[in-house]
Amino acid sequence: MSTNDLTGIAQKMVEKGKGILAIDESTGTIKKRFDSINVESTEETRRAYRELLITTPGGNDYVSGMILYDETIRQKTADGTPFTKALVDQGIMPGIKVDTGAKDLAGHPDEKVTEGLDGLRERLNEYVELGAKFAKWRAVITIGDHIPSQACIEANCHALARYAALCQEAGLVPMVEPETLMDADNTIERCFNVTERTLHTLFDQLYRQGVSIEHTILKVNMVVSGKQCPTQAEPDQVADLTVKCLKNTVPASLPGIVFLSGGQSAAKATEHLNLMNRKYTDLPWPLSFSYGRALQEPCLKAWSGNPDNVQEAQKILLHREKCNGLATLGKYDA
Ligand code: 13P
Repeated sequence: MSTNDLTGIAQKMVEKGKGILAIDESTGTIKKRFDSINVESTEETRRAYRELLITTPGGNDYVSGMILYDETIRQKTADGTPFTKALVDQGIMPGIKVDTGAKDLAGHPDEKVTEGLDGLRERLNEYVELGAKFAKWRAVITIGDHIPSQACIEANCHALARYAALCQEAGLVPMVEPETLMDADNTIERCFNVTERTLHTLFDQLYRQGVSIEHTILKVNMVVSGKQCPTQAEPDQVADLTVKCLKNTVPASLPGIVFLSGGQSAAKATEHLNLMNRKYTDLPWPLSFSYGRALQEPCLKAWSGNPDNVQEAQKILLHREKCNGLATLGKYDA
């Protein structure tokens, strides 16, 4: 049993004015991101890009933790410093993605179940040795004509609960992430219903598996209109329905909630978070960010694989980190 202080880690993850930078793209996903800037994805280009993100000067004013991928947690900066040490030296906690991806759910066309439970105890123990303080597992819930099925929601939430219990046994704070995708043509009301059903099921499963809610962080989608929906909800409605959904489903003892960006633009992801924190000042949990794309996209473009662009790309990343740090306080002004 590790001696990690789970209460302290969870509180620090959602410290006021700070949030999480997700840089845990799998090798397949980072290749897609690199394709968009015409950069070949090799171990070295991935390392160089992650070094840029990790060593951004001043980032630690707004970022309390970064989620790494299995390859990344073992990598070093160009001068030979392990990434984990580079983070800890700045007061940023290393986290680790531990699921092995969303696979087709048998008997349920167009639905996915996230895998990775086999051998997880041993992998978690290794990640603790490598310096991880928290771990993330992402489940994907797809909205469509007759989906999500209850079978898909239950299978995913059951796996999330088993992973979370293993994390706490190993001395890691679980960041449980059920993501209802925003890619379809559904209304915001449909997103509300599906997210609510998923979160009810998730907290029921966490309870059944004996997971300590006080030592768990929720990472979830905001309640938004599907990207293909002809009517896009206004920011006020996103803020109101997201908060309503969370109040209906999330226990007050949870130490914090962070949002994924899920395909929202960088500006919208900040605006929505800011509005929630500005309008709702008496919630039981801090609302913060754990964005991948909404923090990285402008920086990735500015870098474009050219070492000469590193400083400019870091400036752009720092700007987005600062905007979102302010949004956790409801103090961001566009
Ligand atoms: P996005 O913010 O790009 O959705 O990614 C966050 C994440 O970690 C998804 O698992």
